[in-house]
Amino acid sequence: MTVGFGIIGCGNIGPIHAAAIAEVKGAKLVGVSDVVEKSAQALAGQYGATGYTDYRKMLERDDLDAVCICVPSGLRVDIAVACAEAGKHILSEKPLEISSKRIDKIIFAANKENVLLGCIFQSRFAEGPQLVKKAIDQGRFGQLVLGNAYIKWYRSQEYYSASSWRGTWKFDGGGVLMNQGIHQIDLLQWFMGPVKTVQAQMKCIGHKGLEVEDLACAMLEFESGAYGTIEGSTAIWPGCPARVEVHGSGGSATLEDGAIKHWKFKKRQASDAKVEDELKKESVLGSGAGDPLAALKIEGHRRQIEDFARAIRTGGKPRIDGREGRNAVALIEAVYKSAQTGKPVSLACKG
Ligand SMILES: NC(=O)c1ccc[n+]([C@@H]2O[C@H](COP(=O)([O-])OP(=O)(O)OC[C@H]3O[C@@H](n4cnc5c(N)ncnc54)[C@H](O)[C@@H]3O)[C@@H](O)[C@H]2O)c1
Repeated sequence: MTVGFGIIGCGNIGPIHAAAIAEVKGAKLVGVSDVVEKSAQALAGQYGATGYTDYRKMLERDDLDAVCICVPSGLRVDIAVACAEAGKHILSEKPLEISSKRIDKIIFAANKENVLLGCIFQSRFAEGPQLVKKAIDQGRFGQLVLGNAYIKWYRSQEYYSASSWRGTWKFDGGGVLMNQGIHQIDLLQWFMGPVKTVQAQMKCIGHKGLEVEDLACAMLEFESGAYGTIEGSTAIWPGCPARVEVHGSGGSATLEDGAIKHWKFKKRQASDAKVEDELKKESVLGSGAGDPLAALKIEGHRRQIEDFARAIRTGGKPRIDGREGRNAVALIEAVYKSAQTGKPVSLACKG
């Protein structure tokens, strides 16, 4: 069976989805939609698909099985619910929506209409994060002690002012953590497990008139008892590779832009020699340190779209579902709440 894909939103990331779908065996791009007609027509023309200005018209197609939602973050809930009601599987860009409340509406609609829901976190599909996760599952880190996510990037004043939705609470849902840092925050939680409490501070330090944070620091306690930190900024020039670190009683590993930079375990395995080769390799992910477009390589998306198409074809589940998409947003919401109230926030009992 060929899985027919559609794309809603043909800005920066929509074309990455189109290029990725073209590289997935058994997947075909049949339609694309954007409120800006020339954006829809240009992308449609490139892939022999049909362009639409009204996504609802696209949803009427019988050969459309799944939709990639690539509109600004705070515009997804109504579109996702409409996709579910049309019986189309949903693969949404990150963040799944800008609040856990809005995400719950999407999860409810997907469950009710019996369609699959996935959230793009392409970093999880790179070799480095896969190796770290496997080592955690094998218990090689021993007791997890400390996990860190560092996103120290640069986004110019023009990056925010050139777009009506970026850097707004309503459509971006936040600043550096909700937009840029969410990939590393997702990895941190995937590796270390659920977070129990958060204590945070944040502010806007380097951009004029920005309503959201461009600087945030959070201290975490995971349910496992391990501690963690998140540090994020888009006001640091020229920006550094995004880092995620996992430290335990039995070993330590560090990722930079999804590539392994440090890999040491008390109990060495023969397979470590192969992993050490990874130290010399470049990640399949781009680096968003200084340039948002440089982060847009297709391989991570290709792997995740391939996984989503497999789930549709086999009646299985996508590796990153709506619940996982919610977990990252719920953690960021807790960071924001703690920074705004000056008090620790508990995440107990949240997804
Ligand atoms: N996974 C990643 O690494 C990654 C990278 C970049 C962006 N993103 C995410 O993708 C989303 C879009 O980001 P972008 O940089 O492409 O933004 P963008 O502003 O470049 O593109 C958004 C597009 O959506 C269109 N649009 C808005 N409302 C629409 C509607 N109702 N129907 C159809 N089209 C509509 C706009 O006209 C625009 O072309 C954001 O949520 C962002 O967080 C993810």
